[in-house]
Amino acid sequence: MTTPFYQYDLGVLEDTLKSISRCTSGHKDWHVHYAIKANANPMLLEPVRQYGLDIDCVSGGEIQVALDNGFLPSQIVFAGVGKADWEIDLALESGISCFNVESEAELDVIAGRCRELGKKAHIAFRVNPDVDAHTHANITTGKAENKFGIEIPMLLPIVRKALANPCFQFEGLHFHIGSQITEMGPFQLLCGKINELQELFDKEGIGLSSINVGGGLGVDYENPEKNMIPNFESYFKVFADNLKLRAGQQLHFELGRAVVAQCGRLVTRVLYVKQGTVKKFAIVDAGFTELIRPALYGAQHKIVNTTSNGGIQKYDVVGPICESSDTFQKDAELPETRRGDILAIMTAGAYGEAMSSCYNCRRPVRSEKGKF
Ligand code: LLP
Repeated sequence: MTTPFYQYDLGVLEDTLKSISRCTSGHKDWHVHYAIKANANPMLLEPVRQYGLDIDCVSGGEIQVALDNGFLPSQIVFAGVGKADWEIDLALESGISCFNVESEAELDVIAGRCRELGKKAHIAFRVNPDVDAHTHANITTGKAENKFGIEIPMLLPIVRKALANPCFQFEGLHFHIGSQITEMGPFQLLCGKINELQELFDKEGIGLSSINVGGGLGVDYENPEKNMIPNFESYFKVFADNLKLRAGQQLHFELGRAVVAQCGRLVTRVLYVKQGTVKKFAIVDAGFTELIRPALYGAQHKIVNTTSNGGIQKYDVVGPICESSDTFQKDAELPETRRGDILAIMTAGAYGEAMSSCYNCRRPVRSEKGKF
């Protein structure tokens, strides 16, 4: 067995997609987009498409991958603070359903590209609602100090500008407050903000045909086997109970992590066990080149030794990359671990393979189907 590799359990993915379907099937105006940034592996995109999810993209590359994997342009929304001209052109030429516009400067550029190409752009504005998602600072997006979206006091003049320009079909508002959100409170606050804004737009006589609440639902990294399926019921219920939609309004969600995190794990082999004076290291053949979340966010992914059933000992599980941050877990409690043992780093289906790199001239990471 050549290690390291990502192993995807498509049965887990299917159970996850079924749970999403169950929670949303009664709402004909709801649309769940898969945030393809979480994982663009075609192996996963196929079931995601079959279960009828739409797609959320943040780059031209992602739009291309979505199209190549059979998603229709009408299923694609496109966010991102820094859309390059070629990416805007690709989106216009292919006829995606909505640009989530993040600044007035971007609006002006899209207008220019529309004139040049003779196209009309469907647009929503990404609003920065100034809601604290209570998550890791690097994955909080909806606070005033974050670079994302348009702040509420600046919103109306920009909307009026778009309404006055025949290049645009104005659709509505887009929000995304952050990621790995496990409490429902922040989503409830978001609903309150959206309701207030809707009243403002009503007063102004500006219709909104769509509201996009973004993604962010978290998963259980500590006890993946107990909670393989994220808490979709509570999540969707918050919006059903709190959001006051207008007649005919379409509601969009953009879930990434919650869709694919639990169906993927990183399989790695122990190369060496090294005894120091204060620590014992299990040195494995995967590094932050394969899974950067622990190094970048201090994320703790559960590690399982699939080979050994010896007595529990403590190890720092580290990779081969020449950086001290190349550590998956400190003081991980594992059964006695030896060279050749196979470890599985769990809950790695989202933002694992997608964020992998070839630093140190490492090989691109492989992936295969499997059963956990
Ligand atoms: N919509 C927008 C506009 C986004 O920026 C994101 C994620 C999502 C939806 C999907 O969010 P999710 O449902 O996956 O939370 N690399 C980080 C996560 C970064 C999330 C970026 N934006 C991590 O590994 O934790």
